[in-house]
Amino acid sequence: MKPKVFLTRELPPKVMERLQQETELEMNTEDRVLTKQEIINGVKGKDALLCLLTDTIDGAIMDANPALKVIANYAVGFNNIDIAAATQRRIPVSNTPGVLTETSADLAFTLMTTLTRRIVEADKFVRTGKWKGWGPLQYLGTDIYGATLGIIGLGRIGKAIAKRAKGFDMNIVYWNRTKLTESEEKELGLSYSPFDDLLKKSDFVSLNVAYNKNTFHLMSTREFGLMKESAYVINTARGPVMDENALVNALKENQIMGAGLDVYEEEPEINPELLAMDNTVLLPHIASATIATRTKMGMIALDNLLAACNGDQIPNLVNKESMI
Ligand code: GLV
Ligand code: GLV
Repeated sequence: MKPKVFLTRELPPKVMERLQQETELEMNTEDRVLTKQEIINGVKGKDALLCLLTDTIDGAIMDANPALKVIANYAVGFNNIDIAAATQRRIPVSNTPGVLTETSADLAFTLMTTLTRRIVEADKFVRTGKWKGWGPLQYLGTDIYGATLGIIGLGRIGKAIAKRAKGFDMNIVYWNRTKLTESEEKELGLSYSPFDDLLKKSDFVSLNVAYNKNTFHLMSTREFGLMKESAYVINTARGPVMDENALVNALKENQIMGAGLDVYEEEPEINPELLAMDNTVLLPHIASATIATRTKMGMIALDNLLAACNGDQIPNLVNKESMI
């Protein structure tokens, strides 16, 4: 018997093929986020819910189907799901860690280079026919090579960013809830720094923590105030890790040099002042967006889902307590 699955939005072709073969699939065929009521209607009578980071999954959705065997999230982050509510109802939740690490680290670096070398502005300058030839003062930026990178949150993605930074001969410091062992620090070529010190000495601050109540507005007015005027902040984690209004003020008051963002507090809304600034690079939450990675994410989301439906151990179980 194939498990009955509700999928909230179309995934890459190879994932869809496998879903069609291995599950009894019902899905949203429109290219948009479903309403809560549509998800409630969708999960009724299903074994599994395959959902996205743009779906807010709460207790009311879970109560629409007490027989739900798993909520498989197509993302490494799972702040879109009320984990406590799932655990209370003994519903396992899974995510897709590991497979998107390198792709996401690539994008954090892309934001750094794009910002400091003013790529977006320069490209616009060329395309609009304004370039009249080489100039000694055109589009002067700052070096990444040799600069200090402060990584806040040294999980898989933070470490993958450090690997790249090593190749750029950066001086790398990190802050994390738990300190690495000395041999791990040596291998990655970085050193631990208390939070405020990291902010004071970094030329680039990269946010790579998971979003939860402890990391809400981790970066706000006080923190931007500690940063160098010449420093940049990069957020590829989750929007609410950074206080977007405080960022706008810090940029307006030249407390920091610029910001590279892939995530926002109220996606897809973006503070209009950020849109008007030249020293910001703004991406539409695409850190994991390569064909290979989005396909792998789908495959492991499906592996998790099938394991749960077959009563096997779920490879990427988020709430172990739900199984007790
Ligand atoms: C993307 O933001 C993810 O959590 O996978
Ligand atoms: C990503 O996979 C992370 O846990 O940092």
